[in-house]
Amino acid sequence: MGEGTRIAMEIVVQFGELYGAERLLPISNAHIDAAAYTTVWEAGSDFIEFLADHGAKTAVPTTINPVSRDIENWKKLGISEGFAKKSRRLEEAYLRMGVIPTWTCAPYQAGNVPKFGEVVGWSESNAVSFVNSAIGARSERLPDLADVCCAVVGRVPEFGMYLEENRLGDILFSLQGFDDTWFWDSLDYALLGYFVGETAVNRVPVVEGLPKTAGVDDVKAFSAAAASGGAVCRFHLIGITPGSDTPAMAFGKKTAHETVIVRPQHLLETRKKLSTAAGTAADMVLLGCPHASCEELVRTAELLRGKKVSERVDLWIMTGRVQYQLAAERGAIRILEEAGAVILRDTCLMEMDEGTGRWAGKTVVTNSGKAAQYAPAINGVRIIMATLRECVAAAVSGIFTEEHCHGDQ
Ligand code: F3S
Repeated sequence: MGEGTRIAMEIVVQFGELYGAERLLPISNAHIDAAAYTTVWEAGSDFIEFLADHGAKTAVPTTINPVSRDIENWKKLGISEGFAKKSRRLEEAYLRMGVIPTWTCAPYQAGNVPKFGEVVGWSESNAVSFVNSAIGARSERLPDLADVCCAVVGRVPEFGMYLEENRLGDILFSLQGFDDTWFWDSLDYALLGYFVGETAVNRVPVVEGLPKTAGVDDVKAFSAAAASGGAVCRFHLIGITPGSDTPAMAFGKKTAHETVIVRPQHLLETRKKLSTAAGTAADMVLLGCPHASCEELVRTAELLRGKKVSERVDLWIMTGRVQYQLAAERGAIRILEEAGAVILRDTCLMEMDEGTGRWAGKTVVTNSGKAAQYAPAINGVRIIMATLRECVAAAVSGIFTEEHCHGDQ
């Protein structure tokens, strides 16, 4: 099958030996994280190009993460020609290998939705967490570039989250004292996810007490934050995760476990901790980490309808092509752009920073726990954590104002 596939196979076998896997499992689909130039740099790009030049093709349907530029609008976003060229080289190599050009970190909202129990080979921390926990398919968090090799050979080593015993709960988080002013906005899910991830680290958390009304975007916010606050790649939300209707089902044969009582105060403290900005003047409002869904774009458009983004503020919303198109057909993109929002496709702020320091020191208002974790380190910004309504209000006025929406604040 050619030198590219042979080398990919050799790497998958060595990867399996490293983790003590006894066999390889066939996968039915894959999702690659190693898409952005700022993730794999020159050496990684050389490797991907080598595979493509030597005939390697993805063996299963394979979606892929954001790249380092908005493929259509990179010039308007201030990306340099040289940096765009580096991204293009990688994109073209992947296209030659047969990836489905989703360029999104929410592949489960771009047509890659496995079935319960299906064995898949995914990377991208929020996506792995989501697919293991909201859908109940099986994936380990594959390392960058090894993920590409697994997609090429259509196999993964059987280790970690592919083994039933590792998927059971290790630690219980019991929510207490939350009234119905909580969990109406995905910010609360992001704060809870971050707190749970930070406490569980790499154990499998079981969370009881969430409302059953939690939607896909709420679980997405939780997944991304849990995988950023810690190294969580599988969780059980009681009543939401398939096969985990009760804590007993989530823990299985593991009867002894630690219990953490989570109270509103813990989430308020998490919000304070992630909010590192000194003042309330906003330079940027950042939405869509992970990439925004059509519903999130429509909701944001409703809040922004008839208003204008302040000249002092950049409102950036990151999304993928599929959800962008759906939102465009619902009229949301037009409303957002007329109001002055910038919609980024195919990329994200954290992946398109070519090191010019253009965002350093700026105050970013966001509802994302993952952005709050990574943007300060990658882009040098300071963060204000906010609900979607607060984010939109800050984009319009230029000033963040907290809505006191919980009784105990
Ligand atoms: Fe996606 Fe970038 Fe956030 S890849 S999860 S928008 S850091």
